[in-house]
Parts: sequence; structure tokens; C-alpha cells
Amino acid sequence: MSLLDKFLEQALSRRSVFKDKRYLSVDYVPDDLPYREKEILKLADILVNILKGTRPSNIFEYGPVGTGKTAVTQLVLRKLKEKTDEAKVPFGYSYVNCRFYRTNYRALVKIATDLELKISKTGLPPDVILSLIMKRLEENYMFFLVVFDEVDWLVKYSGDDILYQFTRLNSELAKSKISLIGITNDVRFREYLDARVLSSLSEETIIFQPYTQDQLYGILLQRAKLAFWEGVIDDEAIRYAAAVAARDGDARKAIDLLRVAGEIAERKGDSKVAVDHVMQASEEVERNIIKEVILTLPPNQQLLLLGIAGLSKTSSKIVTGRIKQTYDWLLSQIGRQPITLRRINDYLAELETLGIISSTIVSFGRHGRTRIIKLEIPVEVIEDILLKDPLFAEIYQELACVLAQP
Ligand SMILES: Nc1ncnc2c1ncn2[C@@H]1O[C@H](COP(=O)(O)OP(=O)(O)OP(=O)(O)O)[C@@H](O)[C@H]1O
Ligand SMILES: [Mg+2]
Repeated sequence: MSLLDKFLEQALSRRSVFKDKRYLSVDYVPDDLPYREKEILKLADILVNILKGTRPSNIFEYGPVGTGKTAVTQLVLRKLKEKTDEAKVPFGYSYVNCRFYRTNYRALVKIATDLELKISKTGLPPDVILSLIMKRLEENYMFFLVVFDEVDWLVKYSGDDILYQFTRLNSELAKSKISLIGITNDVRFREYLDARVLSSLSEETIIFQPYTQDQLYGILLQRAKLAFWEGVIDDEAIRYAAAVAARDGDARKAIDLLRVAGEIAERKGDSKVAVDHVMQASEEVERNIIKEVILTLPPNQQLLLLGIAGLSKTSSKIVTGRIKQTYDWLLSQIGRQPITLRRINDYLAELETLGIISSTIVSFGRHGRTRIIKLEIPVEVIEDILLKDPLFAEIYQELACVLAQP
């Protein structure tokens, strides 16, 4: 074999298995979403009113994790915006991911920013922002749509004020009309919401069912063709990934498995992606289970865990009184009232069940007993997970300063 042949062969064997990995990334929304025709048409049927000059109903979308709620909504909105632009209908929308903009104030600022209003860093009172928003709507839009995706985060964190205000806005707007879309995967969402808000928000409801194994296979096949070079991934591997993800009917998990399998193959220098790689990918995902568990904790417990993490830097054994003090401070930072020690103890019990903390009762003889909490996961791991969240990172830094004071 000539030197050139060898060189080319080596280069070829080092070639990535991925033709374009973007197609397996979380933000990619395909132009065509198989198995969701019914949901797409229902959404489009409601929103098409805009093209006919009437206000569409508010819409509530519910379905478990990874069932296409966000993808369907973004696809329909994108197309609708194209059509309204063509027809010169003054239409606009604001997409608010409430996992990120999870306080009423932050969500309000996000909507204002999407309307190209400049809110200074030092901030304005919410009612001033709201009146600026209304003024802008009246001037520039006939129809405006606000999507509150993962809206349970907003409501759990800071109540439903903004939803209430926005559902009432139409009665105060003269020329323009506003509609809302609320999206959640939280079965218990209805319980946190004021009955009036719930009924205005769900003028129309769209339910998303988990995907079946065959559907997941179809979705993966479509993605695999775009993401991998031809012949790189085994059909068996795709079927296996679909079977694993079918336990939850979760398309996101299915796609993640395929991406991680490809990465594993690449790391090992394998030129093909086989069942083996998907199996390892699924183990890797399992190993990340702690991360999953922490990320899916209710926000209140995440915040509590953040406090425990901060405290654990000053001492490895923390009394519950100290935890309450810290938690109350954290709550005040997001504009919420303190909660009772009993509620905190409930939260702690849940964190203990999940193996994140452990607790022991220490007796001081006549002086009574107290519970001592210890983190069971290295604090760096918890920080690594929670501080990716910019809001938490900000609060955590301030907490460190507060705790450092004598
Ligand atoms: N029918 C489909 N065809 C192709 N890809 C899909 C389909 N449904 C979902 N996906 C993809 O699966 C992933 C998860 O979908 P999506 O984000 O819409 O789920 P979701 O219902 O919003 O979940 P969550 O409740 O966690 O927010 C995305 O990458 C999306 O593009
Ligand atoms: Mg979503």
C-alpha cells in the first residue's frame, strides 16, 4: 500500500460518523413532524382565525415529556408568521420558556423585549412595563400571541399574576387582540392555578399522547438519515433506541440515545454505530440519573438543595434550623414568603428518599433533640448541575456572601 493510500485510508477511518450532528440536537425543529398531524392541524385551525381577522382562542397544551408540544407549537407559529407576513397582517408573538423566565417579572421583561421595548437594567415597576406593552400592541399589532412554555415553572415559582393579567388584557385593548398558549407536562398543573385563570387559559385544549415504539422508530429513522453518513448506523441500533425510549414514549430521549451512541462510537474510533453503542449510551444516560433526578425536582426543592449546598461549604453537618433560615432568605430573593418548618421537613424527607441527603437525630439530653442533615452527593456535583441555571447562579453567589458574614 502506498503512503498516499495509507494516509487516505486513515483519514477516512477517522471520519466522523456524523454527517451533521445538528439534526440530533435539542433545538432543531424539523419542518415535518410525523405522527402529530392531528395536533398540528388542531393548533393551526385555531390560529388561522388570525388570517380571517378574528381573535383565536387561548390554548392549553398538555402532554408528558418529549411528546412534541414545543416542536409542534414552534413549527405552527413559524409557518403562521410567514403567512401573516405575506398577507400583511400585523401579527407577532413572544415565546417565553418559563423554565428560564420563571418569575412574573422576568417573563414580563421577556415579552417587552420581544416587542422591542428597552427595559433598563435597573428595571421598571411591572405595571409600567405592562402599560408600555399595551401601548406597543395598540400601535403595531392587530394580533399578538404569547406562548408560556413549561408554564408550571412560572406558576410554581411566582404564582399566576401575569397569566391573570394577560387573560384580562383584551378588555383593555381597543385596537389589538392578544391570545395565550400555555404548555405544560405537569399533570398536577391545574391544582396550582386559580380556577378563573385556568378556565380562560383553556378555551381550547390540545392533549399530546406518548409516542409508541413504532412512531419513535419512524422519528429516529428520519433523524438518522439527516445526521449520520449513509450506512453508518445499523437498523437494529435504531430499533433498540426506539424500544428503550418507548418506556416513556419520549422522543427527546430517543434522539438523545442516538446522539450519545454516535459519540461513543466516535470516541472508540468505530466507523459504525451498532446496538452495543446504543446499550452503552443508555447506561451512560442511566449514570446521569442523579443529574436527571435533581433537574426534575420541583423548583422549591431545587432551591432548598441550593441552600443546603451553600451551607455544606461552611459545615458538613447542618441543623434544620439553619436550613430554614437560609431557605427563607432564598425565598425572599425570588419574592416569596417563608414557609413553615414542617413543610421544609417534608421536602427534606423527599430529598432523603431520593438519596440526595441523609439525616440523623441528635439528642442534647434535657435540651431536646435536633435533626442534622448531611449531603450524600459531592457538593461540586450539585453545583455543577444547579448553577447552569443563571437565576440559581446569581442567587448562589449572593448566598455565599451572606453566609460569609459573621
Ligand atoms: N413527531 C416528531 N417528529 C420528529 N421529531 C420530533 C417529533 N416530536 C418530537 N420531536 C423531537 O423530540 C424532541 C422533544 O420534543 P419537544 O421538545 O417538542 O417535546 P415536549 O413535548 O415539548 O417536551 P417537554 O414537556 O419536556 O417540554 C425535540 O427535539 C423534537 O424536535
Ligand atoms: Mg417542551
